[in-house]
Amino acid sequence: MAKTGFLRSLMFLMLFTIIRTTLSSNSPSITTDQRALLALKSHITHDPHNLLAINWSTSISVCNWIGVTCGSKHHRVTALNLSSMDLTGTIPSQLENISFLVSLSIRHNSFHGSLPTELTSLHRLKYLSFGNNSFSGEIPSWFGYFPKLQCLNLYMNNFSGVIPSTFDNLSKLKMLLLYDNNLKGQIPLTSENLSN
Ligand SMILES: *[C@@H]1O[C@H](CO)[C@@H](O)[C@H](O)[C@H]1NC(C)=O
Ligand SMILES: *[C@@H]1O[C@H](CO)[C@@H](O)[C@H](O)[C@H]1NC(C)=O
Ligand SMILES: *[C@@H]1O[C@H](CO)[C@@H](O)[C@H](O)[C@H]1NC(C)=O
Ligand SMILES: *[C@@H]1O[C@H](CO)[C@@H](O)[C@H](O)[C@H]1NC(C)=O
Ligand SMILES: *[C@@H]1O[C@H](CO)[C@@H](O)[C@H](O)[C@H]1NC(C)=O
Ligand SMILES: *[C@@H]1O[C@H](CO)[C@@H](O)[C@H](O)[C@H]1NC(C)=O
Repeated sequence: MAKTGFLRSLMFLMLFTIIRTTLSSNSPSITTDQRALLALKSHITHDPHNLLAINWSTSISVCNWIGVTCGSKHHRVTALNLSSMDLTGTIPSQLENISFLVSLSIRHNSFHGSLPTELTSLHRLKYLSFGNNSFSGEIPSWFGYFPKLQCLNLYMNNFSGVIPSTFDNLSKLKMLLLYDNNLKGQIPLTSENLSN
């Protein structure tokens, strides 16, 4: 009787260990953030001061990388600030996996291309600054789907087309800077949603 009970507990323990190992190897962690940031690093084509080249090394903890801030609660990357680093490059879709990101600033650099749709999954974002770069194409309508967005800076780029009507949905928005682009059409920011 006692022996059966012992064997049963042992089996449960083994099963539990197997499930936990399987889960933890797939669930997002700081390693996920590191992978995403290394993808960003590999999309930087010019880094004249070798800031990322030297500082973003796997021998240093991600949370000590230049421009990276981690939250104490979940030990995940919460802010990325690469402003004024003279970087040239593009933004890879892998950034979608930095799921605790609240603040992203890459202003005053030479990032170009378009912004990947995958960024929509960063639903915790409050602060976004892409100002003073060389981004082009239409302003993505999915910016309107960030429920917590308070500040959106797209000024001094080469965005064209109209301001997406989804912007009317940004109920937490306090600041929107769009100057010095190639925009046309109406300004669809009329709703009482935008009371802030
Ligand atoms: C990386 O940058 C941070 C912040 O500037 C600095 O404290 C640290 O010493 C740098 N590490 C290396 C290895 O350069
Ligand atoms: C990013 O860093 C720059 C330079 O250290 C600082 O002036 C700026 O306020 C920071 N931006 C954010 C959003 O933290
Ligand atoms: C995000 O992470 C998941 C799980 O690791 C991976 O399957 C997916 O390809 C990643 N997304 C991108 C754009 O790399
Ligand atoms: C735009 O960014 C560049 C660096 O890429 C900087 O030299 C320049 O002063 C910035 N312009 C403004 C108006 O902030
Ligand atoms: C800006 O975009 C327009 C097309 O919308 C293109 O003709 C022009 O060359 C671009 N300018 C720069 C500086 O990239
Ligand atoms: C506004 O946001 C809500 C909830 O996030 C979403 O269901 C709806 O499609 C959005 N509408 C527009 C016009 O973006």
